[in-house]
Amino acid sequence: MKIALINGSPKTSGSASGCILQNLRSLLDEEGSVIGEYHLKRPGVSAEEVAALGQSDALVFAFPLYVDGIPSHLLHSLVQLEQSLVKEKQETMVYALANCGFYEGHQNRWALAMMESWCSKAGLMWGQGIGIGAGGMLPAIQSVPLGYGPKKNFGKALQQLAANIANCSADENLFVTANFPKLVYKLAAEAGWVRSAKANGLRWRDLSLRR
Ligand SMILES: Cc1cc2nc3c(=O)[nH]c(=O)nc-3n(C[C@H](O)[C@H](O)[C@H](O)COP(=O)(O)O)c2cc1C
Repeated sequence: MKIALINGSPKTSGSASGCILQNLRSLLDEEGSVIGEYHLKRPGVSAEEVAALGQSDALVFAFPLYVDGIPSHLLHSLVQLEQSLVKEKQETMVYALANCGFYEGHQNRWALAMMESWCSKAGLMWGQGIGIGAGGMLPAIQSVPLGYGPKKNFGKALQQLAANIANCSADENLFVTANFPKLVYKLAAEAGWVRSAKANGLRWRDLSLRR
């Protein structure tokens, strides 16, 4: 079975989407599948990528939530892919993992619905979506083993998804967040914005400037 893991984050490195796929890959490797990795970080898909994705039995997208939807560069690539995939009429399964900055995983529900809608337009079969809250934490806790501590529920959801991918089966969408207090997550995120602002020559009060 050929599985394509597609990172839809525009970040060249250190993305939460990359961490999610890395964790998922560790579970899929146990199933003995042939796994290809792709990174759609800019608008457009190369002819080689279109051909490789067209030959896959399962397409697994991991991407960040942008304004409650799919990032525009990825949407552009999906529209391009749709035109090629629709002609092939294969029984390809599609799975999607959307992660967001907000704490609640269900923030990703509309983006997953968009992916499901794309799937039916492209003539593909929708498998399952996972909405992941507190995505910003994932790169920072990369070394925490899957299924433990703040990655307990995330690990359970990935286990279920990996089994569904391996069996080419469909399932209900799942929504998870970090096993970590919401208030502490919020405070840590705010401290991170202040650090980023300082690193870019701004002051704390500039963060609340209105134009
Ligand atoms: C342009 C932009 C729009 C965003 N919109 C949302 C949003 O609507 N809701 C949300 O919870 N997070 C939003 N975020 C935060 C990202 O989803 C979050 O940082 C995510 O973990 C990034 O994933 P990545 O590292 O895989 O790119 C947005 C980030 C950016 C840059």
